[in-house]
Amino acid sequence: MINLLHLDASPRGERSHTRRLTAEFVGEWRKAYPLDAVTYRDIGRNPIPHVTEDWIAGAFTPSERRTGSMRAALRLSDELVDEFLTADLIVAGIPFYNFGMPSGFKAYIDQIVRVGRTFSFNPDNKKAPFQPL
Ligand SMILES: Cc1cc2nc3c(=O)[nH]c(=O)nc-3n(C[C@H](O)[C@H](O)[C@H](O)COP(=O)(O)O)c2cc1C
Repeated sequence: MINLLHLDASPRGERSHTRRLTAEFVGEWRKAYPLDAVTYRDIGRNPIPHVTEDWIAGAFTPSERRTGSMRAALRLSDELVDEFLTADLIVAGIPFYNFGMPSGFKAYIDQIVRVGRTFSFNPDNKKAPFQPL
């Protein structure tokens, strides 16, 4: 049994091609593997907030030294990182906007890329400072 995380990033509903594609994929997956767990997150319709000064300060402060406002700023990020790390398979519908991803999906990426949780940082290693965990 695996955990599948299904993400949709289009702000469109019925007209969205990426939503149709992810729904079709996940529907077929459920038929083939009915015991697998599926978690759904609609980034397009429930936009993810951008990171803030408290968020950045909190992310680079050891958890036991975080202030209340830092902890509050990181609450959703913690939830998204837990959800991301629990997933064995991620199916994401991401429209192509102006030669890149929609800003809402970039906001999601900014929330889940967390030092000590989804990557580690070694300041002495100048060749490859960012190491995936
Ligand atoms: C603001 C905006 C920017 C877009 N930029 C591009 C682009 O740079 N290149 C491209 O091929 N399509 C572009 N498109 C078309 C979308 O990729 C296309 O409509 C896609 O189906 C959107 O995903 P959705 O159907 O799930 O909403 C853009 C659409 C919008 C609304």
